[in-house]
Formats: sequence, structure tokens, C-alpha cells
Amino acid sequence: MKVLLLGAPGAGKGTQAQFITQTFNIPQISTGDMLRAAIKAGTPLGLEAKKIMDEGGLVRDDIIIGLVQERITQADCANGFLFDGFPRTLAQAEAMRDAGVNLDAVVEIDVPDAVIVERMSGRRVHLSSGRTYHIHNNPPKVEGKDDETGEDLIQRDDDKPETVQKRLQVYHDQTAILIDFYGKMSGDNAPKYIKVDGTQNVETVKQQVLTALGQ
Ligand code: AP5
Ligand code: ZN
Repeated sequence: MKVLLLGAPGAGKGTQAQFITQTFNIPQISTGDMLRAAIKAGTPLGLEAKKIMDEGGLVRDDIIIGLVQERITQADCANGFLFDGFPRTLAQAEAMRDAGVNLDAVVEIDVPDAVIVERMSGRRVHLSSGRTYHIHNNPPKVEGKDDETGEDLIQRDDDKPETVQKRLQVYHDQTAILIDFYGKMSGDNAPKYIKVDGTQNVETVKQQVLTALGQ
């Protein structure tokens, strides 16, 4: 099963990703998580990506495409994978199509911009696993601590309100076009297109996504 989660920053892609990967036993491929890991490790990619991410821009297509192409050849991707935050530009989507990556489903999580800004300010993440919480909507069992490891939760550097506005603008300028790219695809290789109202609570979104994916 090859699934793509599409949606604005803060729409809930990371939150829903964990349910899909557990249900279908496929790995999550989050380019955002991969870049944050590179930043934490201090690699040349991390150093280059940090400035761009802190400003809310997009990392270059060739770098991202190379990262993902390498990742999907790994053994754990043999039964499929979940793309989270990738493809994010038309060039990235075309590169996957041209590489023969046929998605089974595209899940669009639809959330208006006004809701996003509030969500980002309350977000807390566990950096090494990517697990995501919200101080009101989805709180951890112990304040400031990850449920599974007990390790500290952090606030992402790009969750400042002005950076969130920039990321939303970049989403509308460069990523929203993929709604049409995938939604209007036809033929044998066209993925099932699923659109979910992401303003509903986490559990309701989860049920609707899993049902639409056949669970
Ligand atoms: P990335 O990490 O992909 O960030 P993003 O797409 O901006 O999305 P987020 O992770 O911010 O949000 P999400 O949709 O996962 O929401 P979440 O579940 O956390 O990318 C970061 C940066 O890396 C980019 O800006 C770019 O610079 C670079 N990059 C990454 N991929 C790239 C690519 N392919 N090409 C180029 N550059 C790339 O939820 C948000 C909050 O809301 C949480 O607190 C959560 O608890 C809460 N929440 C979730 N669902 C609900 C709900 N239903 N109700 C109430 N609250 C909810
Ligand atoms: Zn995310």
C-alpha cells in the first residue's frame, strides 16, 4: 500500500500518519522529519536546510527527490510506505510519477488557514520519533513529556506565527496545485482520492481516513 498524505502545514498529517502506518504496517516517510534529523545530526544537508526551514521556505527539489528516491529502495519499503509532506511541489510529484511510483491512495486533510495558526502555537513534538501532541487538543499524559519514552517534548523552531504565515503562503503557492494533479488523474495508475474534513477531532479524522482506505 502506497499512500500520500496531502495538506497544509499543521493540517494533521503527522498526527494521522501514525494511525495509517500502524494499521497497514508500512513506514512513514516524512521529509520534514528527515530534514530535522539531519539538522540535529549537524550534517551538511542539515546546515543548509535549517535556514530555509526556519524561514518557512522549501528545500530544493533535487535534494528532496534524491533523499526520497534513496529511502524508498530500502527493505522496509517493500510493502509500501506513507508519504508525509512529500511530494510538495509539481516537480517532486512528476519525479515520482516518472520514476514509476504508483500511489494507491491520496488522502487530503482539509483545514482552513485560520484554524492552522492556533494549532501550531500549541504543538509539541518528540523529536526523535516525530510523535506530535497539542497542549489542548491532544495533550501528552504527562505535561512536556513523550508518552512512550518520557523524554522531553519541544516546540519546533518553525512554529513561530510569522513563519507559519509564510509556510501557509508557500503551501498555497506551490503545494495546493497537487490537489488537482492527483485529484484529476485518470487511468489505471490513478490513486484513489480521499478528502477528509480535518477540522474534526483527531479520532473522527482517523476513523474517516481508515474507513476510506478500506479498514
Ligand atoms: P514538515 O515537517 O513536512 O511540516 P509541514 O508540512 O509544514 O507540516 P507540519 O508537520 O507542520 O504539520 P502536520 O500536517 O504534520 O500537522 P501535525 O500532525 O503536526 O516540513 C517542515 C519544513 O521542511 C518545510 O517548511 C520545508 O522547509 C521542509 N520540507 C519538508 N518536506 C519538504 C519537501 N518535500 N520539499 C521541500 N521542503 C520540504 O498537527 C499540528 C498540530 O495540530 C499538532 O499540535 C496536533 O496535535 C494538532 N492536531 C492534529 N490534528 C488535529 C485535529 N484533528 N484537531 C485538533 N488538533 C489537531
Ligand atoms: Zn508533520
